[in-house]
Amino acid sequence: MSTDKRPETFVPLYSQERGDKLPLPASLAALLGDFRLPLKTQSPYVIGNFASTIDGVVSLNEQGHTGGGPISGFLASDHVLMGVLRAAADAIIVGAGTLRDEPGHRWTAEYIYPAFAQEYRDLRLALGKTIPPLTVLVSASGHIDLNQGLFQRREVPVLIITTPEGEKRVRTKKIPSWVQLASVQPQQGGNISAQNILTLVEQACHGQLFLTEGGPQLLNAFLSEGQLDELFLTLAPQLAGHIHNDQRPAVVMGAHFAPDRPLWSTLQSVRLVGSHLFLRYAFRERERE
Ligand SMILES: NC(=O)c1ccc[n+]([C@@H]2O[C@H](COP(=O)([O-])OP(=O)(O)OC[C@H]3O[C@@H](n4cnc5c(N)ncnc54)[C@H](OP(=O)(O)O)[C@@H]3O)[C@@H](O)[C@H]2O)c1
Repeated sequence: MSTDKRPETFVPLYSQERGDKLPLPASLAALLGDFRLPLKTQSPYVIGNFASTIDGVVSLNEQGHTGGGPISGFLASDHVLMGVLRAAADAIIVGAGTLRDEPGHRWTAEYIYPAFAQEYRDLRLALGKTIPPLTVLVSASGHIDLNQGLFQRREVPVLIITTPEGEKRVRTKKIPSWVQLASVQPQQGGNISAQNILTLVEQACHGQLFLTEGGPQLLNAFLSEGQLDELFLTLAPQLAGHIHNDQRPAVVMGAHFAPDRPLWSTLQSVRLVGSHLFLRYAFRERERE
């Protein structure tokens, strides 16, 4: 996946970003400037990355127009940043709904912005990470098409996290040897807890920086349990519009937080590209580690 246009430079407007300065290769540093992420934490540092319209829509939910591309307008700079987060991550966690709506997608830095494939490899090596990030697919039902490229290409290690019932369903198909499968009892309501997801991911990969690219239902698990450290939000300057019951999802779906337990955050940084805002919000305060 890529865009023809060249990425524009991110204009820094505000920063209280925490953590270590990323050792970005020169071309990425020229675009992004000083960019920080906590790299040495004792427990998983979990970041989410979403693109949203002004009216809070993250998927148009129409045939041929799903995914984040139509939301951000396929903005090259957004893809560059997605690539940086993927290149820095130890695991990238996605829900089965996102894979179903974007079959063929690969959760690698070079897939989202191929022109910087070498820069992403250099960044990863500079971080001391010698293997690609683990792609983690979460599904309660186990309704997963194992013929998709994600499972067949052997490009990245893959872990499927499901329930015992989901595991039975997955095991009726041929599982490639490089795809790991883990199952855990779901909570009441059928979903797997974020804590259990994180424990299984920790067991399966080296490192503590976990990125979730959603979707909105999976993000709900992390937010509901207070397990999301930061949300990277690209606010695209368009209104998608709504009609009643149109099933156009917002950033998080599946729970009401406010008014009973509102989830306030702290703004970490703001960057600007044209009229797109790149926002970082911290949802969990941490002692310095
Ligand atoms: N704009 C953006 O930045 C952005 C980012 C991500 C996704 N999206 C879009 O959002 C849409 C998908 O929304 P969605 O809410 O359906 O996405 P989702 O969270 O990826 O998928 C929901 C499905 O994932 C599994 N799942 C999620 N959380 C789970 C949990 N805690 N335990 C067990 N299984 C869990 C379940 O799969 P089973 O049904 O198999 O049990 C569930 O039905 C797509 O159109 C996608 O392109 C947009």
